[in-house]
Amino acid sequence: MKRWMSPGLTLLLLLASPVLLLGAGDATAGKATYAKKCATCHGKQGEGKAAIAKMLKVKLRHLGSKEVQAKSDADLKKVITAGSGKMKPAKGLTDADVANVVAYLRTLAQK
Ligand code: HEC
Repeated sequence: MKRWMSPGLTLLLLLASPVLLLGAGDATAGKATYAKKCATCHGKQGEGKAAIAKMLKVKLRHLGSKEVQAKSDADLKKVITAGSGKMKPAKGLTDADVANVVAYLRTLAQK
């Protein structure tokens, strides 16, 4: 009897390979990190919490807005790890967490 890999497993490997090869962020994992580390200020969908904006006296742009999405991945990573303006650096994130969150931010892009 021949032992071929099951079609399901092959498909799974094919889908996973770009992520493994390129080291790109995983948006699904990023969503969980975002919910824990970012949503308190930026809202579930990146819309920004009005109360936080008022408290910090800033305008929170939608993270899916053209202005935010125009930033490169490197710029977004920098905002997350080094902070920007009134935003403090996010603590306790590994490089992989940051890459995943950036991948998630890309899914918020407004059309
Ligand atoms: C304590 C509240 C708070 C948390 C938590 C927070 N941010 Fe922010 N973030 C802000 C504020 C306030 C600004 C606007 C800073 C300014 O303009 O002075 C901002 C700005 C940004 C920007 C730039 C937006 C722009 O308009 O250029 C990005 C991107 C961003 N945050 C991503 C994240 C991500 C990703 C996380 C989670 C890892 C996160 N933030 C966690 C408060 C927060």
